[in-house]
Amino acid sequence: MNISNTQNLPGKKGIAIVTGASAGLGAVYADRLAGRGYDLILVARRADRLEAMSQRLRTKHGIEVKILVANLTERKDLERIITEISANPNITLLVNNAGNATLAPAPSLNDEQIDAMHKLNVDALVGLSQVALRKFLERDSGTIINVGSVLSFQTIGLSAVYSGTKGYVLNFTRGLQIAAEGTNVKVQLVLPASTATELWDLSGVPLANLNQSSVMTAEHCVDAALAGLDQGEAVTLPSVENKQLWDAFEAARTNLFAATQTGKPASRYAVESA
Ligand SMILES: NC(=O)c1ccc[n+]([C@@H]2O[C@H](COP(=O)([O-])OP(=O)(O)OC[C@H]3O[C@@H](n4cnc5c(N)ncnc54)[C@H](OP(=O)(O)O)[C@@H]3O)[C@@H](O)[C@H]2O)c1
Repeated sequence: MNISNTQNLPGKKGIAIVTGASAGLGAVYADRLAGRGYDLILVARRADRLEAMSQRLRTKHGIEVKILVANLTERKDLERIITEISANPNITLLVNNAGNATLAPAPSLNDEQIDAMHKLNVDALVGLSQVALRKFLERDSGTIINVGSVLSFQTIGLSAVYSGTKGYVLNFTRGLQIAAEGTNVKVQLVLPASTATELWDLSGVPLANLNQSSVMTAEHCVDAALAGLDQGEAVTLPSVENKQLWDAFEAARTNLFAATQTGKPASRYAVESA
């Protein structure tokens, strides 16, 4: 069966494209979306892992799987994925999950490490979001899931650059949601806390060093995020019990912004005239 002709078959939901599908949260997204009846396009650098996953998912879920081996920090590879989303009308869901982290104080990061975080966490996510949103708006249908982090709204000493990139994901994705208002296109922002994946050992902070009671499994994280999507949440914080904390955070941002619109210096900055 040709993967580009599957959307209209009974029980088929179209194609979900998942970046960073070879490990961690992306691998669980691939499995869960396959279980929901999506055909898949899996994107990552490690072809062997993607191949093994695709075999498993085809057998387990009876779906079609296509592999696109790509290094999303390379512009030409990113362009290939952008073209795929632009050209394939059966893509109905994009999971912008691929991300990397080097966790260290900002002055000790080298240019290459900073560049890798910017290119993957920001540039690739923006490029793929833009093309998907344009196509989905044309069809008035489709879903984008952007994976940020609780470090989208918090910075710790080791996360200046990573938090910078994830803060971008938060603000950018809120903007996409505004662009999609009044349409049938959904844009979900997912903000996971510490999750047991390879990201930690790659980041320079071993997973074993974390307070284990603060660490969620990747399966729990993705299942909660998809439950949030089903509930129509714009922003999903898988580990946060009290959902009103997010509402209070948004209200504080909005109030602070409103308070900036005065056109004059605050009285505490008044300069005495000579
Ligand atoms: N784990 C956490 O505690 C945590 C918490 C909050 C948010 N997040 C976010 O969740 C997302 C998934 O992270 P994870 O924890 O699942 O990480 P992970 O286990 O390290 O997986 C990262 C995935 O991204 C792919 N990837 C990395 N660099 C790539 C590149 N240059 N081009 C293409 N694909 C690339 C990796 O595959 P290849 O190596 O095969 O390319 C892998 O499939 C990220 O956006 C991360 O920032 C994670």
